[in-house]
Amino acid sequence: MLLWILQKLTVVMAQADSFMPTQGTEIAKSVDNLYAFLLVISLVSCVIVIGGMIYFAIKYKRKSANDVTAYITHDTRLEILWSVIPLILFLFVFAWGWVIYHDMRTMPKDALEIHVTGKQWAWTAEYKNGVKSTEVVVPVGRDVRLILAAEDVLHSFYVPSFRLKQDAVPGRYTNLWFHADKLGDFHVFCAEYCGTQHSGMITKLRVVTQEEFDQWLTTESEVSTLPMAQRGAKIFQTRACASCHSVDSPAVKVGPSVYKLFGDTNVELLDGTKVTADENYIRESILNSQAKIVKGFGPRSAMPAFQGQLSEVEVTALIEYIKGLK
Ligand code: CUA
Repeated sequence: MLLWILQKLTVVMAQADSFMPTQGTEIAKSVDNLYAFLLVISLVSCVIVIGGMIYFAIKYKRKSANDVTAYITHDTRLEILWSVIPLILFLFVFAWGWVIYHDMRTMPKDALEIHVTGKQWAWTAEYKNGVKSTEVVVPVGRDVRLILAAEDVLHSFYVPSFRLKQDAVPGRYTNLWFHADKLGDFHVFCAEYCGTQHSGMITKLRVVTQEEFDQWLTTESEVSTLPMAQRGAKIFQTRACASCHSVDSPAVKVGPSVYKLFGDTNVELLDGTKVTADENYIRESILNSQAKIVKGFGPRSAMPAFQGQLSEVEVTALIEYIKGLK
């Protein structure tokens, strides 16, 4: 009976995305099985305890004023029974959990290594050939190990579909591994409160075929040899600048538009002063967005500071791209 419920429950859990996120790895399935087991055991215990309580409350309800309660002393057999059975169950759950955890924490040899860095408030994945990406792209059916680091404060790399979560800690490396067996895009969250934009520290983990992966890696590394403005356009995309700044109209998104920005001699700042949008202004705004905040976007800029995140070459490429937006 118990096994039957367990089996049904895991099937339901596997299918229902609304209840649990898609199972993207084998580990996710083992975690869900253990979870289903805990759920069933808890339900059964709940029925026995609460049901028993209600049953006895009704059965032994005082029927009249001179209804005397019988003298009840303890029963050793019962005591042993309700101590030993839960103990066995708990030890069993512990052992089961330990086996899964051991699997999760034993890094496979020959895994594809990707360096992932957390920074207020974005993730950057860096590949061995130098490609940097805001999304983590991995090949399907292969052991992947992520080496995590943090540049400022604690972050936590969390992939619900993989049932994986690992802190990224400043000053040391941490790691996690997975073997994705499903193609698709999976959510990545930051699961450690890291400042005002913590909830926006989201990215995608894209599981693609080995061919797509190789193709992607080559294309990305070719970007570094593109003409400046084109490379700037690419960086504008990969660093997600486009999600806050429009490039083809003066429309305001989260931040000011960069369309026809370059050369504007009339950029009004928060304190009322006016500046010219030249190379140095744009450079400063990219590297330290708090320095000169455009009127209407204060009191603090929501843009992350890219100091130390972008190389000189990348900043220049971005400026060249913005110059061309007219
Ligand atoms: Cu990074 Cu929360």
